Amino acid sequence: MSNRRRFIAGNWKMNKTIPESRSLAEKVREALDGFDAADVAVCPTFVALAAVADALRGSRIALGAQNLYWKESGAFTGEVSGPMLVAAGCKYVIVGHSERRQYFGETDESVGRRATAALACGLYPIICLGETLDERKKGVTFEVVKRQMGSAFSAIGPDAIGQVTVAYEPVWAIGTGVNATPEQAQEVHRFLRGLLADKYGAAAAETVRIQYGGSVKPDNARELLAQPDIDGALVGGASLKAEDFAAIVRSCTA
Ligand code: 13P
Repeated sequence: MSNRRRFIAGNWKMNKTIPESRSLAEKVREALDGFDAADVAVCPTFVALAAVADALRGSRIALGAQNLYWKESGAFTGEVSGPMLVAAGCKYVIVGHSERRQYFGETDESVGRRATAALACGLYPIICLGETLDERKKGVTFEVVKRQMGSAFSAIGPDAIGQVTVAYEPVWAIGTGVNATPEQAQEVHRFLRGLLADKYGAAAAETVRIQYGGSVKPDNARELLAQPDIDGALVGGASLKAEDFAAIVRSCTA
C-alpha cells in the first residue's frame, strides 16, 4: 500500500434521471456519513450536476463531470465547457474515457486538449486510458498506454501535475464483469508511474494517483487497492448502487 490518499470516483455514465440522480447522491452521502479515509467523487450526467451538487452540499463527497469541451464558450452546439462545470460545482472531470474514444471519435489529441483545458480552469482531470482486448492479445499494451499518456500529458507542465489523476481502464474489463487481476493492473500502473517519473521526476510521479477501472466491485476492490501503485478506483456499474459504492470506498481502509 502506498501512502497516497486513496481516491474513489463513481462514473454514472448515461444513467439516472435528475430525480434519480439526486436520490442516489443522497443515499451515497448517507452511506458514507463520517467517512474521511479517502477522497470520494461522483460523476453524474451534465443535466443532473446541479441537483447532485445540491444533494452533496456540505458533505465530503465531491462532484465530477464526465467530459468537457476545450473552448470556454461559443458556437459549439451540444458541448459543455470547463468554466460551466466549475460554476455547476464540479471539482473533477473525466476525460478520454474509452467509451468517448470508441463511440464519439475522441482521439489521443482531443483527450490532451480536454485535459489541458480542464487544468486551465482549475478542474482536476481524471485522464482515462487503457488497451483493448485485441491490443492486449497482441502484446502491445505498454505501447498503447505509452502513446495515450504521451498525448494526454503533452501540454501539462510540472506545476499542474498535482491536479491530475490517471485512470487505467483496460477496455476488456469495462462492464464485462472480468476485472484485471491485481497483478495485471499493478504491472501497468507501475509502468505508468515510470512514464510520469521520466517526464516530471520521481518525486512528482510518486504524488500522482492512478486509479484502476473495469468491473470494480465490493468483492474485488480490496485486493486491487492493496497493490502498491493502485491508488483508487473509477467505478462504473457498481457506483449506481449506493451500498456497493460505499462498500468499495470503505475497502480503502486497511
Ligand atoms: P464498470 O465498473 O461498469 O466496468 O465501468 C468501469 C468504467 O468504465 C468506469 O469509468
